[in-house]
Amino acid sequence: MKTFVPPIKSQGIKTKLVGWISSHVEELEYDRWVEPFMGTGVVAFNVRPKKALLCDSNPHLIKFYKALQAKEITGALVKKRLTEEGKRLLLSEGEYYYDVRKRFNAEGDPLDFLFLSRSCFNGMMRFNKKGGYNVPFCKKPNRFAQALVTKISNQVESISQIIEQGDYEFRNQDFQETLSELKATDFVYSDPPYIGRHVDYFDSWVEEEEKILKQGLVSSQAKFILSTWLSNQYRTNEYIFSVWKDCFISTKEHFYHVGAKESNRNAVYEALLSNIRLTDSIPSHEMKRRIELNKSQLTSKKDPSISQQLALVV
Ligand SMILES: C[S@@+](CC[C@H](N)C(=O)[O-])C[C@H]1O[C@@H](n2cnc3c(N)ncnc32)[C@H](O)[C@@H]1O
Repeated sequence: MKTFVPPIKSQGIKTKLVGWISSHVEELEYDRWVEPFMGTGVVAFNVRPKKALLCDSNPHLIKFYKALQAKEITGALVKKRLTEEGKRLLLSEGEYYYDVRKRFNAEGDPLDFLFLSRSCFNGMMRFNKKGGYNVPFCKKPNRFAQALVTKISNQVESISQIIEQGDYEFRNQDFQETLSELKATDFVYSDPPYIGRHVDYFDSWVEEEEKILKQGLVSSQAKFILSTWLSNQYRTNEYIFSVWKDCFISTKEHFYHVGAKESNRNAVYEALLSNIRLTDSIPSHEMKRRIELNKSQLTSKKDPSISQQLALVV
């Protein structure tokens, strides 16, 4: 199935996992889909629930999607703006990026947010201690060549249509506010920041918050799925066996290549935790036992595309 890719980028985006996540929720019944940490919204926009409450503490994300919903931002408008701004960027040999960044930090225009998100270094989203966007330029003055502008305006158009067809509400609020509004008939997809991974004005996360999240999800009685990681070459995410110890866990293997040699591939096990039994999931205490016995941490079938990827790099 085709994956809808949102126009805004961020380092925590779940584009590559969205098919796996969706496959677990296809058969579920719920009144409303809720995301306390919507980020780019890629999961909701691909699951396409009829009704959704999508929240985030980052006001710029919410402002962008509200503007899309109100048709203040359209594919045509994006095409015009990025074409014009792209020319300025090229003429200035890239310096114009910093003018837009300054203007965005003063005025918060959602179209400037899109411009920055698509021309910054590595599609990152990062804000300094005062809440100012501080990612440097990608150093490609011709970034907004026609093909990319068309691609972005098509992404805006597709996501606009998805939003238009659903009953969606976007809210800029802390996850605790979202938890306090949950109903037992909701389904919650929760994708919080990883503890201690990176600290950002709108995006930091500590153990205490993880516990509040777990408590809020459990007391709501809603069904939930939470995205996290189980282990990499160096570490295991011990919170799975403490805070989330009574959940079911489903895992998927991911390989990140460092260089071209097979020996330089790093495996990461992505995890979905849930209060309901998902396809291929096992109780988290069983996973703990598997790890202690050095058995496979994979609960799903091996993804054939991974073997193909490995064959290609040998
Ligand atoms: C891992 S990202 C979510 C990524 C998203 N699933 C996607 O695919 O784009 C975590 C999100 O949580 C938001 N966030 C961080 N702390 C928060 C809080 N206290 N309340 C609500 N949202 C928060 C961040 O702004 C960020 O967008």
